[in-house]
Amino acid sequence: MTRHFLTDLDLSPEELGRVLTLAAAMKAAPYAITPLAGPQTAAVYFDKTSTRTRISFAAGISALGGAPLIINPGESQLGHKESISDTAKVLERMVSLIIWRTYEQSGLEEMAAHSRVPVINALSDDYHPCQLVADLLTVREHLGELTGRSLAYLGDAANNMANSYLLAGVNAGMDVRIAGPEGYLPAEEIVSAARVRAAETGGSVTITTEASEALAGADVVATDTWISMGQEDEKEQRLQLFGDYRVDAAALAQAAEGAIVLHCLPAYREAEISAEVIDGPQSVVWDEAENRLHAQKALMAWLLVESGLADEETVA
Ligand code: CP
Ligand code: NVA
Repeated sequence: MTRHFLTDLDLSPEELGRVLTLAAAMKAAPYAITPLAGPQTAAVYFDKTSTRTRISFAAGISALGGAPLIINPGESQLGHKESISDTAKVLERMVSLIIWRTYEQSGLEEMAAHSRVPVINALSDDYHPCQLVADLLTVREHLGELTGRSLAYLGDAANNMANSYLLAGVNAGMDVRIAGPEGYLPAEEIVSAARVRAAETGGSVTITTEASEALAGADVVATDTWISMGQEDEKEQRLQLFGDYRVDAAALAQAAEGAIVLHCLPAYREAEISAEVIDGPQSVVWDEAENRLHAQKALMAWLLVESGLADEETVA
């Protein structure tokens, strides 16, 4: 059966642990595992702009022995001249992986439903699950065991990063606290799914409008842009809306001593995070960015093996 990675919960807790362990091994020996040797091609579609996702997938596919094919916004028939399902039926005959940054989650689901090769969500309006594999790898490197660790996310709590922190965090058995203003909190269905997974892993979920409730003693403090791609017209309103949820020195002082700070980048130092914090000693954002490469290499290799498209020994 083909395995896809469309949301954070597409990996079981045990599978997430295996992917993180593989990522750490691949980070230590970057060119030892080549499930895309041939080279096989992996298609990487972008409907939105990107720096980290584009480079990490391109570099990662090459390091796995494959050839990345980057398709920029507006460069293919997908989305205007050709349906998602017809595109999937063509691509699966030519490439070994389909990686797609897009708007609607339903588009990714449709692509996956018609593809025999793994489809990976490289960010949608609803989730950014690849980022969270990298983030959890980073937390593990800096703080060790994830289970029982607390993570506070502040800011736009209705966006893709908030949803992914919530789901991936509880999948790893973490105590996840999400804080944002009324009307900008995770959707009830996502909170419910997180609570179900938390019950299996020993994690927990707090959704609050109080930044200090989320921050109290937290081991990890995370935030994201207040203006996601596609929301540029709302910039002025959003800068006002999230002002109480800024990650600055006063906020960080409420977290645990030695707490680490995550931001998926790109960051706006005049908005969601202060320069003092993101450029300060508790920030691990550059490790986090680097870990996109290692996390996604592990994810791609693991999906190929689980889908029967690469031999187990290629990732052993
Ligand atoms: N964090 C992240 O996904 O960055 P890019 O938008 O640059 O890919
Ligand atoms: N929430 C941001 C994440 C960017 C990596 C966005 O969707 O633009």
